[in-house]
Amino acid sequence: MSQTLKAVRGTRDLLPPETALWNRIEATAREVFARYNFGEIRTPVFEDTLLFARGVGEETDIVSKEMYTWEDRARAQSEKAQSLTLRPENTAGVVRAYIEHKLSETGQLQKLYYIGPQFRRERPQKGRYRQFSQIGAEVIGPQTAGSESPLRDAEVLEMLATLLDELGIKGWTLELNSVGSAADRARYNEALRAALVPLAPQMCEDCQRRAVTNPLRVLDCKVPEDQPLIETLPRIADSLDEDSTRHFAAVTAALDAAGVPYTRNHRLVRGLDYYTRTTFEFTHGGLGAQNALLGGGRYDGLSEMLGGPRAPGIGFAMGEDRLVLTLLAQQDQNSAPPQLADAYIAPLGDPKDAAALGAANAKINAAALSLARELRQKNLKIELGEGSFRLKKSFEAADKTARHIVILGEDELQSGILTVKTFATGIQTKVPRAELAAFLSTPASK
Ligand code: HAM
Repeated sequence: MSQTLKAVRGTRDLLPPETALWNRIEATAREVFARYNFGEIRTPVFEDTLLFARGVGEETDIVSKEMYTWEDRARAQSEKAQSLTLRPENTAGVVRAYIEHKLSETGQLQKLYYIGPQFRRERPQKGRYRQFSQIGAEVIGPQTAGSESPLRDAEVLEMLATLLDELGIKGWTLELNSVGSAADRARYNEALRAALVPLAPQMCEDCQRRAVTNPLRVLDCKVPEDQPLIETLPRIADSLDEDSTRHFAAVTAALDAAGVPYTRNHRLVRGLDYYTRTTFEFTHGGLGAQNALLGGGRYDGLSEMLGGPRAPGIGFAMGEDRLVLTLLAQQDQNSAPPQLADAYIAPLGDPKDAAALGAANAKINAAALSLARELRQKNLKIELGEGSFRLKKSFEAADKTARHIVILGEDELQSGILTVKTFATGIQTKVPRAELAAFLSTPASK
């Protein structure tokens, strides 16, 4: 026997009915983005490896250990061998496209959203996959278009609060911080490094290493025993220059005015190198260890890092898998009813005729398909049975999938009067074919 193949570790199939929830989330996101006047961008799923090395940062976990990278060999004279990578995130791709298509020349702010798969070779666990889907958006443009304004930050955060509310996510928390300018961060790094010298030997192994290689990452440590020590470390807020401090104050003032609640998280420095000033995450307690529903922030120097013009920007990406997990957990509590079809059409043929695919069943099946077509064109959700089923089997199948069963036998075909049973009430009704669609759609019969 040949070996059965399975989805690769960290990847998964999404099946109905869960995919209906994915579609609903995406439709709601598209609606909200449209209201804020965002347009959709679709960038390729793979890019030149250099894009992520330069954009996300060589030293980050993402680039140093989590990327799916391969050498793409030249297949023709016109092609060059190249190192390619499945995108681990979409911001670098969007900024590359912004530069490549000279969008800065419009002089306008670009407000772009995306929905699609991303790939990171992380250790899989609940809420963390190697292929996952992000719904994200970026606001980027010349300074003259107001791209650097704290109002942009507040507007994006207010949009996210609206989107999460409209998705029905209950109990989210907005955690907010500022990581300042590159110079502020360099200053903070040194302050941290110095403060960690006497503390690191008492901390976990990871922290001992990070204290030397990348002190900022000590702030991500989750080891309980290290927490009291981390709380004593200097805060980045104390290393911010006047401009960054003022920028952050303006963001929070606008959020206060709009009534969007947030908490300041001094340890929120985020794991990608391009961030400047505002950084944020929306978290949810129901998610366990991977509690970030979404993350984002400002990246005022990214365009220049990728060889483009000065183009400050801010954006975010939501983990769609985590939105789904959160909504499913909420649904469990309210036990959502299963999605039923409006009707199951049961063609009454001859059970003995099944194997032969005989003419009698063929005729009644064809009539049933035509009735189903008629009803579906009137926007009804219809399940179609099989003429060889015994009536009992049709009833069993119908009871699981639909609110009504419509019996279609030779008599019904001749008379044009159909027998309909409504499962909720147990009542059987004779309905003329012309009135069937109306009968099946009235709430009284549901
Ligand atoms: P990120 O924090 O790396 O930021 O990812 C954003 C969100 O994607 C996370 O909060 C999480 O919900 C989801 N996510 C990340 N990794 C996984 C995974 N392995 N499995 C499931 N979900 C995951 C970014 O990607 C930035 N590009 C966000 C951004 C846009 N910043 C500015 N603009």
